[in-house]
Amino acid sequence: MSIRLGDTAPNFKATTSIGDIDFYEYLGDSWGVLFSHPADYTPVCTTELGRTASLKSEFDKRNVKVLALSVDTAESHKGWISDINETQNTDVDFPIIADPDRTVANLYDMIHPNASETLTVRSLFIISPDKKVKLIITYPASTGRNFNEVLRVIDSLQLTANYSVATPADWQDGEDVIVVNSIKTEDIPSKFPKGHQVIKPYLRTTPQPNK
Ligand code: BEZ
Repeated sequence: MSIRLGDTAPNFKATTSIGDIDFYEYLGDSWGVLFSHPADYTPVCTTELGRTASLKSEFDKRNVKVLALSVDTAESHKGWISDINETQNTDVDFPIIADPDRTVANLYDMIHPNASETLTVRSLFIISPDKKVKLIITYPASTGRNFNEVLRVIDSLQLTANYSVATPADWQDGEDVIVVNSIKTEDIPSKFPKGHQVIKPYLRTTPQPNK
């Protein structure tokens, strides 16, 4: 099944490194990041899961729950987590989904047969509290993801959800944002009292509202 932006993220039940979960129940009212790895005991994945664990406070402060997935068993995941914690100096406490029969991988279209018939690619989904898919990124097996970018997108999505703004190219937290075009220019001062600039009628910027 292919999943597109705006779709409802499919629910599933799965065995994980921390026990059995129902995906929706695990997420609760939080945002979610669901991401797949080709396999346990592989070097790039080891660094990615360590990096994710080291960013725990950043995910927590954004109200985001993370879940990883690979097509190995929960027992395999547990042994690998020891290696990750040892080599990356971390404490991996988020669930890694065990998907040996590829149920979740197929549900989320994480297997791209022309890349590998059996292993998941590096898919990553950001899911909003209403369970809509907000971001899909797919990396090849040989490229570790940029988790600063994942946090940056979460910040942008949360700004859009809360303030009717969008973020420009290469935007970083704290920089000016774009007022969405559904807001009339004459309504900007009341909605964005920190000020604004009209660069073109369709390009209006304002200081980041939550800073
Ligand atoms: C890795 O995680 O290191 C990896 C996995 C599959 C292919 C290449 C690299």
